[in-house]
Amino acid sequence: MAYKFAPAGKDDVSDLSILVNRCYRGKDLGGWTTEADFLGGIRTTPEMLEQQLKEEYLTMIKAVDPVTGKIVGCVYCKVDGTSVHSGMLCVEPSIQAKGLGKMLMQEVDNFALNNNCTSVTIDVISIRDSLIAFYERRGFRPTGKTTPFSKFGVGDAKRELVFQEMKKQL
Ligand SMILES: CC(C)(COP(=O)(O)OP(=O)(O)OC[C@H]1O[C@@H](n2cnc3c(N)ncnc32)[C@H](O)[C@@H]1OP(=O)(O)O)[C@@H](O)C(=O)NCCC(=O)NCCS
Repeated sequence: MAYKFAPAGKDDVSDLSILVNRCYRGKDLGGWTTEADFLGGIRTTPEMLEQQLKEEYLTMIKAVDPVTGKIVGCVYCKVDGTSVHSGMLCVEPSIQAKGLGKMLMQEVDNFALNNNCTSVTIDVISIRDSLIAFYERRGFRPTGKTTPFSKFGVGDAKRELVFQEMKKQL
């Protein structure tokens, strides 16, 4: 599928919020990885997304289905010196495992290179083994830096959680 990739804007926050919450916290929607087993509550709201979009150096990339015009994936990129920090990578559950996640990650690499950055970092919850393996296959490696989920995570943690930072050199 020839998805269209473009920066998201204020008009997209409602659709993005529904998508992000379905992907991260939805149960039995057909996706292969989710946080729903260990995190309750919502991942974001339209208001939170609107604030995020106002952040300096931050771009949210949306993937649009060319047939329906619907947003079916997204990821944000934030320039931090010579590195890009990326997050909120998600793909509509019913079309996961068909390559769109990797296309969005390629968009992050392109964004980083276009902004003269030489690496990409992400934060992954440390118990998500299959997701970490997915990132490792894409060239990411743990940096050793960890952050308690409570510091910037959103949701009701059902156990103690920790973010693990991973980095890829471009
Ligand atoms: C993570 C996510 C964005 C991946 O999107 P996607 O469109 O499924 O990704 P792709 O189709 O490009 O790749 C799927 C990969 O998962 C692997 N995979 C598929 N089913 C799997 C399963 N049941 N267990 C483990 N790996 C699986 C595939 O082998 C493939 O990896 P490979 O290309 O190295 O072989 C998507 O699953 C998602 O939105 N998850 C919920 C939100 C989330 O957790 N985001 C990450 C936060 S850090």
